[in-house]
Amino acid sequence: MLTNKTIVLGVTGSVACYKAADLACKLTQAGAKVDVVMTDSAAKFINPLTFRSLTGRTVFTDMWDTLSASGVDHIALAEAADVVVIAPATANVIAELAAGIAGDSLTCTVLATLAPVIIAPAMHTGMWRNSITQENVAKLKNRNFTFIEPGYGYLASGCIGEGRLADIYTIMGTVRQVLGRTGNLAGKKIVVTAGGTREPIDPVRFLGNRSSGKMGHAVAEAARDRGAKVVLITGPTVLPDLAGVDIVRVQTAVQMKQAVAKAVAGSDALIMAAAVADFQPQTTSAQKIKKAAAGGKMTLPLVATPDILTETKGRFLKVGFAAETEDILENAKEKMRNKQLDLIVANDVTAPDSGFEVDTNRVSIIGPDSRTEDLPLMTKKEVADRLMDRIAVMLKPKPAPKGHTH
Ligand code: PMT
Repeated sequence: MLTNKTIVLGVTGSVACYKAADLACKLTQAGAKVDVVMTDSAAKFINPLTFRSLTGRTVFTDMWDTLSASGVDHIALAEAADVVVIAPATANVIAELAAGIAGDSLTCTVLATLAPVIIAPAMHTGMWRNSITQENVAKLKNRNFTFIEPGYGYLASGCIGEGRLADIYTIMGTVRQVLGRTGNLAGKKIVVTAGGTREPIDPVRFLGNRSSGKMGHAVAEAARDRGAKVVLITGPTVLPDLAGVDIVRVQTAVQMKQAVAKAVAGSDALIMAAAVADFQPQTTSAQKIKKAAAGGKMTLPLVATPDILTETKGRFLKVGFAAETEDILENAKEKMRNKQLDLIVANDVTAPDSGFEVDTNRVSIIGPDSRTEDLPLMTKKEVADRLMDRIAVMLKPKPAPKGHTH
């Protein structure tokens, strides 16, 4: 989605400038045209040549460069930008922008642009928490600037605290979210589930499955990138949080059901990519079960968990996934009927490059009237995008019947 987008990347004077080089590189690799505008102090931390080499484009450092093609670079940049990202953003540049000061190429560009502006601050904890900075941030948020909160951790001063530049993954995610705001799911609310549930046996053991959460995360990301408001309900996973997505973490099937019931209020679609346990231990031992006490043999009575898709009712689109090892399409269609779904993604989990844990998947999307779209092996992101194509069409308002006059 970043292909052919023009991103103006503002870099200001912080030791985190070296991370901006990685950001410029990743945005460029994702297909964007990245125009870097550096302040004088940023150029003291990192050489503009680094950005020119990474982006393959001119780097703007001096507003008074008489050799520039147009002479008014900041206006050309402001007009070309699809989005402006300032990373790292110092307390100084935030203060300048809040006051409407336009004293260099970067602040002139921001003042002149109609494009959305994303700010990723990086500074010492004291400067970030200072009420003056916080007032400036609040003022800019009121003017629709998007802030990516700084992280907590080791700072250049040697202290540990709040103020680290957010990680590049979060900044990239925010860029995608902001660029996708007017996408074909704008104004829709979509609830997605991901990962496997864990049903506790005792304080240290559980019944679980191999789901990594990758497929559900890809679905949530694809919906976010088309402008939807997304709630992601996920079982335990090591995947990082998705920027711009409300995340609810759960452990068990019962907790997932409760979280889904709460989240679906006002939603347009529920997409369940989670591998929910079908059974849970009848009782959970309060203490770790001892091998000796079990007498070398153990039977674990199980009871069925609630079927979330079947039991969650409402006027939203219901989409399920079916992880199958045999008679894939037939079994998926049966689940679609039994759970009364609008769409089901039949997932072949027999091949090593498809299904659980891996980054690729092989699926068929089955729609109303059993219309089936067999997809070849593709990345989970691509699968998610193809699924969103179908969902966007199904959620599109139907044209009013002809012949009606009021
Ligand atoms: O997470 P990854 O490692 O990326 O792996 C992805 C995946 C293989 C888990 C995913 O693509 C997938 O196929 N998810 C569904 C797995 C599954 O549990 O399928 P099922 O056939 O058991 O369930 C059918 C549908 O009913 C699913 O949408 C499931 O979320 C839902 N269900 C199941 C049980 C239950 N108690 N309540 C439910 O709502």
